[in-house]
Amino acid sequence: GWKMENVSDEEIKVINNIVGPEEHVICALSGGVDSTVAATIVHKAIGDRLHCIFVDNGLLRYKERERVMETFERDLHLPVTCVDAAKQFLDELKGVTDPEMKRKIIGREFIRIFDDFAQKLEHKLGRKPSYLVQGTLYPDVIESCPPPGSGRTHSHTIKSHHNVGGLPKDMKLKLIEPLKLLFKDEVRQLGRILNVPEGFLKRHPFPGPGLAVRVLGDVTEGNALEILRQVDEIFIQSIKDAGLYDSIWQAFAVFLPIRSVGVQGDQRTHSHVVALRAVTSQDGMTADWYYFEHKFLDDVARKICNSVRGVNRVVQDITSKPPSTIEWE
Ligand code: XMP
Repeated sequence: GWKMENVSDEEIKVINNIVGPEEHVICALSGGVDSTVAATIVHKAIGDRLHCIFVDNGLLRYKERERVMETFERDLHLPVTCVDAAKQFLDELKGVTDPEMKRKIIGREFIRIFDDFAQKLEHKLGRKPSYLVQGTLYPDVIESCPPPGSGRTHSHTIKSHHNVGGLPKDMKLKLIEPLKLLFKDEVRQLGRILNVPEGFLKRHPFPGPGLAVRVLGDVTEGNALEILRQVDEIFIQSIKDAGLYDSIWQAFAVFLPIRSVGVQGDQRTHSHVVALRAVTSQDGMTADWYYFEHKFLDDVARKICNSVRGVNRVVQDITSKPPSTIEWE
């Protein structure tokens, strides 16, 4: 019968047939399930002729870089170069408020860094890498167009733009897409066979532009990113503690570019407002906002205001998609 063990063995053989014994392969890891499982299976096939890069763009969640690097290195033994490019991205994003412009800048800087990584690798190896691994899934293959006139770029398109169309032309990398025939739940099954930790396989999706689309307006203003990281971590940890994480498609906090009046002790404050968003969904195309119990929301809001300096108000997003989108930008 059809078994994921067989799919895994078969895929490893296929990769070994494609990649010649002297050839090298590169892969950009996002910290998400798909690129991680794709890299892991390629690593099983060709070992350290795989070269991965993980970019810290300064827009990652609380301790994200440390957490994913630990999984890559300690659990999966993947050869990963971690590039700290926070300053580069944030310098370029200074003063930028338009959401699509933010995405464009982030995509452009990512390509610069990726290009630099590939060139250094070529120099070190004395030959060009031949292949690029991508975590493309079956749904990405069959459905590739963003809704016309939406003004937003759909995530599937983003991924392909980001990784294929966006690569420097002279790089001439051929693609390896080991997940091309799989659905998301099958990728998780494959990941299990490859010993990717269960907690990692169940992570919520996270957008490529990261917290830049969750800090409304200029992401470099004040300490918005730092505040958002702390709020988001409290929210996610509370969801995990309540055993709700796996019932939710995506949950996160949003930093609003406004201040409101509050009172703490006998002090009047004029501080930041954060929004909490949690949705259920099958594929991200439509979504329903998630009903938390009042007690849960009350605890989370108190915890946030008590422990995150600079926040005096918490609101919840109670819109579904449509009419809203999942992200706020
Ligand atoms: P929206 O906000 O359009 O999001 O309802 C649908 C899904 O896509 C993710 N998303 C992105 N992913 N680059 C990405 O890689 C992006 O620019 C982007 N924008 C949204 C979003 O997190 C949700 O899972």
